[in-house]
Amino acid sequence: MRWAALLGNPLGHTLSPLIHNTAFQLAGLEGTYIPIQVVEGYLEEVVTGLCFMDNLLGFNVTIPFKEAARRLMDISSPEVDLIGAVNTVKRGEHKLIGYNTDWTGFLSALDEAWGAPLEGKKTLVLGGGGAARAVIYALHQQKVAAIRVAMRSQAKREMLKDEIPWASIETIPFTPEAIEEALSETDLLVNATPIGLKGEAMPFSLAPMGKKAFVMDLIYNPPRTPLIREAREMGIKASNGLAMLMYQALEAFYIWTGRRPDPGPIKEALQKWEREREA
Ligand SMILES: NC(=O)c1ccc[n+]([C@@H]2O[C@H](COP(=O)([O-])OP(=O)(O)OC[C@H]3O[C@@H](n4cnc5c(N)ncnc54)[C@H](OP(=O)(O)O)[C@@H]3O)[C@@H](O)[C@H]2O)c1
Repeated sequence: MRWAALLGNPLGHTLSPLIHNTAFQLAGLEGTYIPIQVVEGYLEEVVTGLCFMDNLLGFNVTIPFKEAARRLMDISSPEVDLIGAVNTVKRGEHKLIGYNTDWTGFLSALDEAWGAPLEGKKTLVLGGGGAARAVIYALHQQKVAAIRVAMRSQAKREMLKDEIPWASIETIPFTPEAIEEALSETDLLVNATPIGLKGEAMPFSLAPMGKKAFVMDLIYNPPRTPLIREAREMGIKASNGLAMLMYQALEAFYIWTGRRPDPGPIKEALQKWEREREA
């Protein structure tokens, strides 16, 4: 039986097996998807071992290995070099091929939830880690008018500009004053920090944002963060990261199998999980 895996640490209660195992069924393929919690510092050993296993299609890579995985690839797609992170690996003939499907997952999810053309829009991204870079790449591809990035460390703000010279970004401090000033001219706000994972509120108010703006929180567990709640209370449309998770997974599934199953039943399974999580 063919199979694929997820490498990360911690993996907790990951939703990726639900998505991929449903995708195998929908595509009529015999296959399975297995989470593997890798001891930190041993990614290379695990990847080497995987290469000796029969029927492996490929694997996904998540926190904290997305940057380290890049160095283990024989070939990488062009966006991997620009974003600086791999989240999907295809096992080719005697080689590993690295891809990043977070950025297309983000765009598909945003298009589905908001639907507004991104060209000419003013955007603000919170955080400058791996997910933020995939989002910045996506926004850059869509020719947005402005990409502001709020980060708490001045040294990292300077480093980010050097590391992604292809994107024209403005970095701002992660302070209520700087963020609220930027929000008054922001069409799209993206949270790419872990703030909200434990139910924490953002240290700023969405009051300066216009009602036609959109808020996308990449966090999906919990499904409704205080940021999403605040946006909706103010009449601003907002969505969580569940659809991004699904679309990045379906793109990985396509890379491994060449098949694009109907996302409908997978969405239903994820919505069921969401309802149970919120109950
Ligand atoms: N929906 C999806 O498919 C999907 C995909 C990928 C990621 N995500 C989510 O996106 C989020 C970020 O993931 P990542 O992989 O980019 O993580 P990461 O590489 O660790 O980056 C996190 C970023 O958030 C910043 N940050 C952390 N705590 C902060 C705080 N209290 N105040 C201000 N900034 C803070 C970090 O700043 P420092 O560098 O200063 O620590 C860093 O810039 C996570 O919640 C993850 O679950 C979702």
